[in-house]
Amino acid sequence: MIKSGTDINFAAQLLKKNKVVGIPTETVYGLAANAYAEEAILSVFKIKNRPFFDPLIVHVSCINQVNEIAHWHDERLKRLAEHFWPGPLSLLLPKKTIIPDIVTSGLSQVAVRMPQHPLCLELLNRIAFPLAAPSANPFGYISPTEAQHVLDQLKSQIDYVLDGGPCTIGLESSIVGIENNQLTLFRAGGISCEAIEQVAGTLHLNTSKSDNPKTPGQLKSHYAPKIPMYAGPLTKLLKKWGTKKVALLYTGTENYNVYFKFNLSPTHNNDEIARNMFRAFRAADQSGADVILISFVENTGLGMAINDRIARAVIRD
Ligand code: TXA
Ligand code: MG
Repeated sequence: MIKSGTDINFAAQLLKKNKVVGIPTETVYGLAANAYAEEAILSVFKIKNRPFFDPLIVHVSCINQVNEIAHWHDERLKRLAEHFWPGPLSLLLPKKTIIPDIVTSGLSQVAVRMPQHPLCLELLNRIAFPLAAPSANPFGYISPTEAQHVLDQLKSQIDYVLDGGPCTIGLESSIVGIENNQLTLFRAGGISCEAIEQVAGTLHLNTSKSDNPKTPGQLKSHYAPKIPMYAGPLTKLLKKWGTKKVALLYTGTENYNVYFKFNLSPTHNNDEIARNMFRAFRAADQSGADVILISFVENTGLGMAINDRIARAVIRD
């Protein structure tokens, strides 16, 4: 049986039968199910091997659908939605009872976003319910940015992946909510803090620690390759690990002599680095190398989200 393709009707039929389907978004691929059907959501947790304390993001096709599932309690969030949707931004809104508690892990707020991907929006338009979808990777592993990545790991457990090509952003949505009446960033992602602040004013950085996460996507070990990965200045790391088989993820145009290398961006461009990063993690993980070496990037634009993902993927000395 063909497991991936662009058959939106087939994907819609499966979802209507409470099956789980891989879907493309501009950030990463999702593992989608009817957000109103507890049974379907249970399958998502099971397939991902995801703990029930880690809530799911709900994907909508229009503002009417948001009103069906949540309350707009804050003007700043409304402004952000108007400005950035469809796009890589999830908003935490007080949920209505139509959303089962399992979706939000019992929390009173639901994370909502309108994805910016033509195939995904088309699919959402053909069904009468929103889609709860975590990233389509086994819990703790690298997020998928191509349909093939989803098939590589979950083929035996799902019926179909809607193939929308490689993700254009490459890392997950930013998650923003209100805490103590302050606009608060819960996860750095595809929209930069600078851009969010320009639209909605001062953005407070969530201080919850990774060992006691309020937002479980903030768990310390996440997005992690199976072979050890270290981050820091590359010359220093290469000196230390030079005798091993090194997989090097680098930027710029220097010509390194290593076992495996992946150029994330010849021009050190953070948008390009974001787009390539998870793909590079995967390629390095499968390269046969002993260690993966990478350096942190400039903290501008998507740099904060890139550095966050690197920090969660590496082993620290
Ligand atoms: O870009 C994305 O957001 C992708 C695509 C598929 O849309 N999805 C994604 O989902 O990254 P996931 O499940 O890998 O990460 C969602 C994170 C959770 O780990 C959780 O920390 C946070 O979103 N989250 C979801 N609902 C929440 C809630 N009600 N309160 C606090 N955090 C929530
Ligand atoms: Mg994830």
